[in-house]
Amino acid sequence: MNVNRRHLLTGSIGAAAVALVASACASEDGDSGSGGGKKVGIAMPTKTSERWILDGDNLKAAFEDKGYEVSLQYANDVAADQVSQIETMVGQGVNVLVIAAIDNKSLSGALAQAKEADIKVIAYDRLILDTPDVDYYTSFDNTKVGTLQGTYIAEKLGLDAGEAGPFNIELFAGALTDNNARYFFDGAMAVLQPYIDGGQLVVLSGQTDLEQVATENWDGAVAQDRMETILTSFYTAGQQVDAVLAPFDGISRGIIAALDGAGYTTMPIVTGQDAEVDSVKYIIAGTQSMTVYKDTRLLAEVTVDMAVDILEGKDPEINDDTTYDNGDHVVPAYLLEPVSVDATNYQAELIDSGYITEDQLQ
Ligand code: BGC
Repeated sequence: MNVNRRHLLTGSIGAAAVALVASACASEDGDSGSGGGKKVGIAMPTKTSERWILDGDNLKAAFEDKGYEVSLQYANDVAADQVSQIETMVGQGVNVLVIAAIDNKSLSGALAQAKEADIKVIAYDRLILDTPDVDYYTSFDNTKVGTLQGTYIAEKLGLDAGEAGPFNIELFAGALTDNNARYFFDGAMAVLQPYIDGGQLVVLSGQTDLEQVATENWDGAVAQDRMETILTSFYTAGQQVDAVLAPFDGISRGIIAALDGAGYTTMPIVTGQDAEVDSVKYIIAGTQSMTVYKDTRLLAEVTVDMAVDILEGKDPEINDDTTYDNGDHVVPAYLLEPVSVDATNYQAELIDSGYITEDQLQ
């Protein structure tokens, strides 16, 4: 059953059908209750973003459905608190840990304790770096997330069709403490950099390095501040922003607030990620251009299957054993496909698949 589902995941079938298959699997497995007496520790980064709430809820429900006891912790984006939470869960004798790290380099000590206690660790969505004690990784194709964002900008500006521009673009990335931020940014820049080099795209702020464009804690307010500063410092002679590379919907909405405050009545192209409800509303209204949809239901399914295989002493299925070197070793991974969503396909991808309801968009 799992094998069939996973063939579908990498195939061309739409997310809606995949989600249906996944949920059918969940309910079939629900009766087996194989997890009797075993505990799962789940460490999530924050409740300030919708996706992590969904991730935590989906994981907890799926593990409980299979008969596991679950401890689900959120650390409000404070890395030290997440370390304490993991240490506590190790002390409580969980059998496996699923961790979406806040600071990818802060967990070595806690994971050494987990290893000592024979607890396997799955890095969830965000890879944990510089430790031998992370066993598996489940995520999406993070480079492709950036590729989808960069490609969207290139296509909408007509750059790929030879439009000379020059168009003004500003660049935003995620938190430097999150390994994904670099993958997203590099994926997008692989598309955009040739147009910058060729003069079709111009970054008036001159801020093009990851360190310059990163956003602490992925915080939309931080991004809003930076966009406001860019507008008042570099767009003083009537220049207009034509596009903004934004890595995450919360950041996109901060950028849009800054542009709105500066008097933009028509928004430039603004990318995003996560298909958050507020951003989907913006996409329908034409304020945000696109988002990258990552079906967190599928990520939870894949992760739960992996954890169950580990706990039953089986080799979990992986589909990537080359991409994610954490500085100590290449971490075997199961990667899912992200999907580009805009006003033309949100209905099919998000509503018809049941990821978001019509009611949520009212
Ligand atoms: C996740 C994104 C999310 C971001 C901010 C990243 O690690 O992959 O989906 O937008 O964190 O929470």
